[in-house]
Amino acid sequence: MEGLLTARKVNENVYWVGAIDWRIRNFHGYSTERGSTYNAYLILADKVTLIDTVKAPFKEEMLSRIASVIDPRDITYIVSNHTEMDHSGCLPQVLEAVEPEKVFASIMGVKNLSEHFHLSREVTAVKDGESLSLGNLELSFLETRMIHWPDSMFSYLVEDKLLFSSDGFGQHWATSERFDHEVDRSELMRQAAKYYANILLLFSPRIDRLLAKVREMGIAIDTIAPDHGLIWRNPSDILQAYDRWSRQRARDKALVVYDTMWHSTETMAVAITEGLSQEGVSVQMMDLEDNHRSDVITELLDAKAVVLGSSTLNNGMLPRVADLLSYMKGLRPAGKLGAAFGSYGWSGEAVKLINEALEEMKFDVVDPGVRSKFVPTHGDLERCVELGRGVARAIKVGD
Ligand code: FEO
Repeated sequence: MEGLLTARKVNENVYWVGAIDWRIRNFHGYSTERGSTYNAYLILADKVTLIDTVKAPFKEEMLSRIASVIDPRDITYIVSNHTEMDHSGCLPQVLEAVEPEKVFASIMGVKNLSEHFHLSREVTAVKDGESLSLGNLELSFLETRMIHWPDSMFSYLVEDKLLFSSDGFGQHWATSERFDHEVDRSELMRQAAKYYANILLLFSPRIDRLLAKVREMGIAIDTIAPDHGLIWRNPSDILQAYDRWSRQRARDKALVVYDTMWHSTETMAVAITEGLSQEGVSVQMMDLEDNHRSDVITELLDAKAVVLGSSTLNNGMLPRVADLLSYMKGLRPAGKLGAAFGSYGWSGEAVKLINEALEEMKFDVVDPGVRSKFVPTHGDLERCVELGRGVARAIKVGD
């Protein structure tokens, strides 16, 4: 591909020189149904600077894009905002090819790069608030520890009011377009919400504090250049969304999520959904056979309640329900209401086990749940409708 790929101009000083991964469909259990990008950026300052690199197999793609603008050996500095392999995987090879004067990373970044790559060359640590002169331009650094790794940091190009936001504000979405205004806005926000829900949700308190700190510092941000997906030239929507998501603000919406063996638990789900709907709550019913765990978590982002159903299998819950609960627990959703339901043949532990898992995650379990033996009777289904109505009333009490 040498000599064929091009960089994309972000502004007079900055070029996108990343890679497009059209094929990836799974990112650590997150379904990337539309692929992803690994963004790297070239700053054409007096000291030419590369911000981040790409996943190892995409090294040639990045170097080819850089070569469309400058000779890669003209790069003076490399800044590594984050050690994870999708952004630093090819760093050792790029260091060999480019031989920059200096490499910069956060204090934890220096440690992580050393532990990952056992680099022989020095990496210079930069502190929170520290600035680096690129000659005619200035780069400053903002430590974002545990958003989402201990080493994570943002870099800010002062003159251009451009924030290189590492994994913050990203989306897993492979596109030929590079900027937010070039794509469908609702799909862009959906992909950004999915990314937040599945990668950043558990760091919400830190993100809330970071946003407050940036507001206090009065940093003007005209452009946000994340390490995945589209570049935000109009960042107000995504900044407002992060403000809402980081405070885990939800609306009058419930999810009815279930897995079923012979459709009895599914029939119960329909009745519960009806009860929620009758009370005017927006409800999304999701069968785990058809819906990926990461799409359920995306819907959970702005939902106040989850009603979770499983048939009982071998004295436990169905595997897909256990998988969802395990994944959900790691992401630490806060301030949610919950309830459980399910059919059973003889032992019927699933509802109790789901309730325990919800309580462990600090959900407010608003009902002991509904169990139905083999096939739900009309009375069982009336009870399910009432469960849905009760969850809806609990949602509204919290308004
Ligand atoms: Fe934390 Fe996109 O890597």
